[in-house]
Amino acid sequence: MLQATDIHKSYRELEILKGVDFGVNKGEIVTIVGASGAGKSTLLHIVGTLDRADRGEVIINNVNVSKLSQSNLSTFRNQHIGFIFQFHHLLPEFTALENICIPAFIGRKSKKEAELRATELLAMLGLEHRASHKPNELSGGEQQRVAVARALVNNPSIVLADEPSGNLDSQNAQSLHSLFRDLRDKFSQTFIIVTHNEELAEMADRKVTMKDGQILES
Ligand SMILES: Nc1ncnc2c1ncn2[C@@H]1O[C@H](COP(=O)(O)OP(=O)(O)O)[C@@H](O)[C@H]1O
Ligand SMILES: [Mg+2]
Repeated sequence: MLQATDIHKSYRELEILKGVDFGVNKGEIVTIVGASGAGKSTLLHIVGTLDRADRGEVIINNVNVSKLSQSNLSTFRNQHIGFIFQFHHLLPEFTALENICIPAFIGRKSKKEAELRATELLAMLGLEHRASHKPNELSGGEQQRVAVARALVNNPSIVLADEPSGNLDSQNAQSLHSLFRDLRDKFSQTFIIVTHNEELAEMADRKVTMKDGQILES
């Protein structure tokens, strides 16, 4: 469902991605591992349409996103891609429920529809009793699960995660990892996950290693 072909990216004279080919099937969890500076985040940002490649193309659900205008790209991203980062980036002034609703509001869903979906997700993640709490009233593990719910609110085709358990203790990391697996098993949710966590890397359907701007094996 996602195919990136011959992706090149440089920052000034520094060549970061040197012709990367990378694809993911629907319902697959693919993890990307590799040393710091290998280009993992750069690749994730390009396949997530947050950044553009200098050369090569990215096709998601049969749409060549390399060819979309900036405004069509924002709409496409909002509808098709969910993001989870190492730090949850929840908005501190808003409750868990409101944070989860934000991508739905951006996608012009009604308040009622957005809140219904957000409530359903909170229940699924065992956080129904935390709906009206603000981020600083939640534990690290709870904050990251709210961020997962926010990533899922628009039913994205694919979820991209960059070191999602990098800031969690091992118990919370483990429950986040089994949550990813449940979402894959129950809803065929597709994931690309950049991680340093061995356990998470190993539970994937496929693990690819990046080194010096290239993919070593897949
Ligand atoms: N916006 C940027 N401007 C300049 N250099 C960058 C930028 N983003 C990343 N880099 C450089 O690209 C290389 C790869 O970075 P990154 O993709 O973040 O690696 P990883 O996620 O594998 O640690 C690093 O050397 C980093 O310093
Ligand atoms: Mg990175």
